[in-house]
Amino acid sequence: KDGYYAEKYRPQFHFSPEEKWMNDPNGMVYFDGEYHLFYQYYPDSTVWGPMHWGHAISTDLVHWEHLPIALYPDSLGYIFSGSAVYDSLNTSGLGTNENPPLVAIYTYHDAVLEKEGSDIYQTQGIAYSTDRGRTWTKYDSNPVLKNPGIKDFRDPKVRWHESSEKWVMALAVKDHISFYSSPNLLDWIKESDFGYNLGAHEGVWECPDLFPLNYNGDEKWVLLVSINPGGPYGGSATQYFVGSFDGITFTTDQDSTLWLDHGADNYAGVTWSNVPGEEMIFLGWMSNWAYGQVVPTEKWRSAMTVPRKLSLYQQGEQIRIKSEPVEALNSLRSEATETPDMELTNSEYTLKKSIDLAEINIDVVQASMGVLDFTLENEAGESITWSIDPGKNKVIFDRSKAGNTSFSETFNEAHHAPLIFDPTAFNIRIFKDESSVEIFINNGEQVITELFFSKEPLNKLTIKASGEAQLKNIKIYPVHSIW
Ligand code: FRU
Repeated sequence: KDGYYAEKYRPQFHFSPEEKWMNDPNGMVYFDGEYHLFYQYYPDSTVWGPMHWGHAISTDLVHWEHLPIALYPDSLGYIFSGSAVYDSLNTSGLGTNENPPLVAIYTYHDAVLEKEGSDIYQTQGIAYSTDRGRTWTKYDSNPVLKNPGIKDFRDPKVRWHESSEKWVMALAVKDHISFYSSPNLLDWIKESDFGYNLGAHEGVWECPDLFPLNYNGDEKWVLLVSINPGGPYGGSATQYFVGSFDGITFTTDQDSTLWLDHGADNYAGVTWSNVPGEEMIFLGWMSNWAYGQVVPTEKWRSAMTVPRKLSLYQQGEQIRIKSEPVEALNSLRSEATETPDMELTNSEYTLKKSIDLAEINIDVVQASMGVLDFTLENEAGESITWSIDPGKNKVIFDRSKAGNTSFSETFNEAHHAPLIFDPTAFNIRIFKDESSVEIFINNGEQVITELFFSKEPLNKLTIKASGEAQLKNIKIYPVHSIW
């Protein structure tokens, strides 16, 4: 690889910038065979600073090509998070009927006004491209949505609402989401507010997403809302609501707070727009504001999660989101090693194959249930462990022995997640990269995304049962680097 993307801790099959600071995924839109990924980017440092939109494209959601920075800060401010759409009817008039534009809708953050103590420093602006997203022109009458006098007023996520034939925008406004609508992406009117009395509120609401999903033949609408701080595992996390949306108001019967991921490191994620077949493909920032700026990487900071296809399923009375790794990730697999089925009774088993960069798939059946520990470890004595504990009804993730944890006080606290699947029989899929693990139970009914910074690669997996567990269909796929 000539040293390219070979630095210590460098993710091998996750998107990360070549260098410097990255946070939220932005402007995700599919167009003409390409998935565009923009991201919050600061090209001058490995910590957060004046925000730009970095840019990359992919034809398969797995391999990425870096493109030049798409949007630079200007006199209206830094370029904060936002979305992009394909304006196929040229409603904006920013392209032509023959060549309709891609339109990006983002937040301007005016740091000068902020410093002066003003409340109105966040507004919404747009930029457009008529050359397949290669170059972007800012609209000359920005901002298109002024600030009504609220400090946190940001992260517009826009989509075309079929039945009312207009654009709708979900916008994070401090402690709630406001919905706006527009015929042309240029003129916006406020429709409604949602969420003052629902969900988690121990932090600021950010980065919403609003989209329909099929549920047993019915259309449901999902609202993702990221919150920082106040996440269940410290710092940042993404909650969601399942309900309905009529183009004006979002309503839900859901009375509990639901979290998209049960690990500490999946934040500010949203879905691609304009994907063929209306699939909702999600990507999150695989980090956390609690320590994202001090993780021990040197040349760059942070990566994205693997892309996940979202769908709905029922669990008890609750309709929940299932996050399944996109199928294209299978293309990274090398041939799986044959591993015989195993029966564990109060015993443990270490998979022989090195799993430094791997996808591991196991079906588990538990005849008598005790705690089931999964440990990724190495000869240097470093490890991370997650324990499925039916007695406590918890999945407990512990990275306190994973090597470098001293950069943050909160990083090595154990995370106690609720157990939301049936532990008597389940499938576990583990995506293990250099400094992250993503655990998908039953193809995404429960997901745990966590970072770690071990000094040596964690290359062994040990499974320990304190009851009786059968491990079947064990597949260990070494995976290729995408770089
Ligand atoms: C979320 C966030 C957004 C904001 C961006 C700034 O991580 O705080 O609300 O637009 O990051 O970089």
